[in-house]
Amino acid sequence: MFISFEGIDGSGKSTQLTMLREWIEARGYRVVTVREPGATMLSESIREILLSNKQNITSASELLLFSAARVQLVEKVIEPALAQGEVVLCDRYVDSTTAYQGYGRQLDLEQVALCNRLATRGVMPALTLFIDVPYDEAQQRMNFTANSSEPDRMERSGRDFYNRVRNGYLGIAAAEPQRFIVIDGMQDRTAIHKEIVGIVDRLLGA
Ligand code: ADP
Ligand code: TYD
Repeated sequence: MFISFEGIDGSGKSTQLTMLREWIEARGYRVVTVREPGATMLSESIREILLSNKQNITSASELLLFSAARVQLVEKVIEPALAQGEVVLCDRYVDSTTAYQGYGRQLDLEQVALCNRLATRGVMPALTLFIDVPYDEAQQRMNFTANSSEPDRMERSGRDFYNRVRNGYLGIAAAEPQRFIVIDGMQDRTAIHKEIVGIVDRLLGA
């Protein structure tokens, strides 16, 4: 079973992923959690480049770097874990590329889709949970994070960019309502977790 989490930076994705991981493990499943970009040595190195404020990266180059990090993760971690019958929880996956590079950076959506097919090798989550919060709320949450550091290269993209990203996510939700579920991220952590558990419980039982 493959489940991904999506949302703009600071929406509360990682918090929910951790809570869901504990819930699934308590039910006896083996769970692998990964973050994107990351989780393999190569993908973590690419992550450093992508998030570094020292880099000046064109949008097309950004698309290819995120995709390179992803295909390494798919081949080295996600496919083997799924083959072993493990549950894979991914903090971001291919919808991030559609939302951030496609809608946010305004790259050609067909080219982004082609790149996504290469990067995923056709491996798609059974379920994607999109934690939806407005930009201002996400900014505030990031500012309150205990070890909050300087905004990274992506986080410096500004309000208009993030509004396009959020609208991109909502567009995916409209196109794929079975897989891509919108969760109201303005609720408190426990209420969001309860909602997610309800959805995942049905999926595991199916
Ligand atoms: P993301 O992984 O989407 O960047 P995090 O899970 O790291 O987001 O959460 C960002 C910040 O918001 C953290 O300080 C976290 O404790 C806080 N947070 C998470 N969920 C909620 C919530 N439902 N309401 C208020 N604050 C939250
Ligand atoms: P990360 O720290 O994982 O994000 P968050 O703070 O939300 O947990 O940083 C990943 C950044 O990269 C984030 O700004 C989203 C962006 N991103 C893309 O633009 N495209 C992608 O395909 C992926 C996976 C991430």
